[in-house]
Amino acid sequence: MRRTLLAGMLLSAFAVVGCGKKAEEPAASAASEAAPAVAQAAEYVVGTDASYAPFEFQNDQSQIVGFDVEVLSAVADKGGFKVKFVNTPWEGMFATLTQGDRDILSSAITITDERKQSMDFSEPYFEARQLIAVGKAVTGVKTFQDLKSKKVAVQTGTTGDEVVQKLLGKTSSSIKRFESMPLALKELETGGVDAAVGDNGVVINYVKNNPQHGMATVEDLQSFAPEYYGFAVKKGNQELLDKINTGIKAIKADGTYDQIFNKYFGTK
Ligand code: ARG
Repeated sequence: MRRTLLAGMLLSAFAVVGCGKKAEEPAASAASEAAPAVAQAAEYVVGTDASYAPFEFQNDQSQIVGFDVEVLSAVADKGGFKVKFVNTPWEGMFATLTQGDRDILSSAITITDERKQSMDFSEPYFEARQLIAVGKAVTGVKTFQDLKSKKVAVQTGTTGDEVVQKLLGKTSSSIKRFESMPLALKELETGGVDAAVGDNGVVINYVKNNPQHGMATVEDLQSFAPEYYGFAVKKGNQELLDKINTGIKAIKADGTYDQIFNKYFGTK
């Protein structure tokens, strides 16, 4: 585990410095030479699929930024820990928790009963819903049901994939699955599918930023239930979960959450 290794290295570095000092100043007690707080705050490795603007994406300097990144960083500040974001493909992401490669997953992850079997979730930090995007040449899509006779793109293994499977059948050849949401939406742009289904924030963001392709969005509040995003940790890691939940509570109470929310989505 990288975090443990790094913490170990930092601690030994301080131990070395401390020893040298002690030899010169025998009066100083061991306690007063404890490593400064910066070395004591645990740093957690955060897995995120950074192809999901505006929640997590790479800016021009290849830094991972976005709503989730700002929220979790603020949470960490209040919860007394540090975070390091590592770009992690969506497919296989959940397994990185059990393997110990990632400590936290922050990836616009919808809390579902099925997922709760294999990982633990923080308190919800965002409400989302599925949204349909339709291609320029596509007419007659007013509700989700209207996609029955259409070709639909989704990101593999997402809640969007799940709802479309329910409509069209799990093995339907009308479902085209992609490893990222931008790839699914590109397929829509180029006319390979009639529609795409995904989280509203991401679909709206993409359609808005690619106006030249004439895509439109179709909302269906009847067919799609609200979903709630949570940060995930390895099942049973209550200590970390408590720190995260403490942080979430704090940023909701002091206005930090609203500030970040407004920056990305405008006032509620
Ligand atoms: N909210 C959806 C889900 O949990 C999609 C999340 C996809 N996130 C991402 N960063 N690709 O299934």
